[in-house]
Amino acid sequence: MEENLLTPTDVFDALPDPVLALDSGRAIFFANKAGKELLGEAIEGEDISMALRQPVVLSLADAALAGKHPEPGEIKISRGTVQIFEIQATPIHGNERIKALISLKNNTRIKQADEIRSTFVANVSHELRSPLASLLGFIETLQGAAKDDPEAREKFLSIMENEASRMSRLIDDLLSLSSVEVDEHVQPREPVNLIPLLSGVVNVIQAQAVKKGIRFISDFPEHLPNIPGDVDQLTQVFQNLLENAMKYGRPESEIQIKIIVDHQLSENSASHVMVRIRDQGDGIPSKDLSRLTERFYRVDKARSRELGGTGLGLAIVKHIIGRHRGRLEIDSEEGVGSTFTVFLPTFES
Ligand SMILES: Nc1ncnc2c1ncn2[C@@H]1O[C@H](COP(=O)(O)OP(=O)(O)OP(=O)(O)O)[C@@H](O)[C@H]1O
Ligand SMILES: [Mg+2]
Repeated sequence: MEENLLTPTDVFDALPDPVLALDSGRAIFFANKAGKELLGEAIEGEDISMALRQPVVLSLADAALAGKHPEPGEIKISRGTVQIFEIQATPIHGNERIKALISLKNNTRIKQADEIRSTFVANVSHELRSPLASLLGFIETLQGAAKDDPEAREKFLSIMENEASRMSRLIDDLLSLSSVEVDEHVQPREPVNLIPLLSGVVNVIQAQAVKKGIRFISDFPEHLPNIPGDVDQLTQVFQNLLENAMKYGRPESEIQIKIIVDHQLSENSASHVMVRIRDQGDGIPSKDLSRLTERFYRVDKARSRELGGTGLGLAIVKHIIGRHRGRLEIDSEEGVGSTFTVFLPTFES
């Protein structure tokens, strides 16, 4: 009876990870499809230490060929971009030609995620440490040198209040970033009208704007379709963007807020509502534009801190807009001003 049996080669070729079989002389006796894709079609017959010229490969192969089970190692392979692989060597007993198997697992994405996470933790610690260090410094001063000086005490307490509220703001922002991230894949569906929402945000920050002599100029259409959204989160988006426009806008300048309904947006003919916020400020150098929405990225760290910023505002904005299946466009001209445009899909799109 003839059966259509899978051969071991078929099985190895079906594996997504590269696998190399070595003979007793360290030559690659067999490479599966993924192995050939990584190392080249002509890899069979080559010495493993030539195919992957990294010391760890040689020591793993030798250990497995000596019948041992070595701990897995890590290698980097650059083919255009650098990829990180976990490499494992296992001895094979009872086969005439094949004496060891080398398997590789692509860990590039896991490693990148690890790196992002540890950079994030380092950044958070750094951001918390500076206000904390200054609080500790002032506490010490108040316990010692400034103990009986009421004037100094008042001054230091007010600085301490500022520092403590900065820490508290940072923690609020971190919490809101993580709560947006948690349900990022769930698109919010409440009907939201952006006109009352934006008017509400303007009312809240109006007093600050007046202090700096800044005027808001609103240009809203007569009829605006509702969009599917989350009122609190969208409020947070426009509060962040308008606060930035105010913070980085020149005194005695204008901030334009324009809502445009776009019924036929080129690619997929979807309908969008666009909210365009244009300030008259120093603008943003073009080299910084693509990085603005990264956590803790600020063009001018000292200036942002001085203005009470945490550098998380635009990261939160980007995540919320993503959750709404929208997008953010940033244009800026140095010395003239910046324009932030939020695109949000309507119900029927
Ligand atoms: N309208 C703007 N004009 C000029 N620069 C801007 C503007 N908006 C943002 N930026 C730059 O982008 C950086 C990041 O903005 P983001 O809102 O994330 O942080 P922040 O305003 O410093 O702090 P916060 O977390 O309190 O919002 C700012 O530090 C600033 O350098
Ligand atoms: Mg901000």
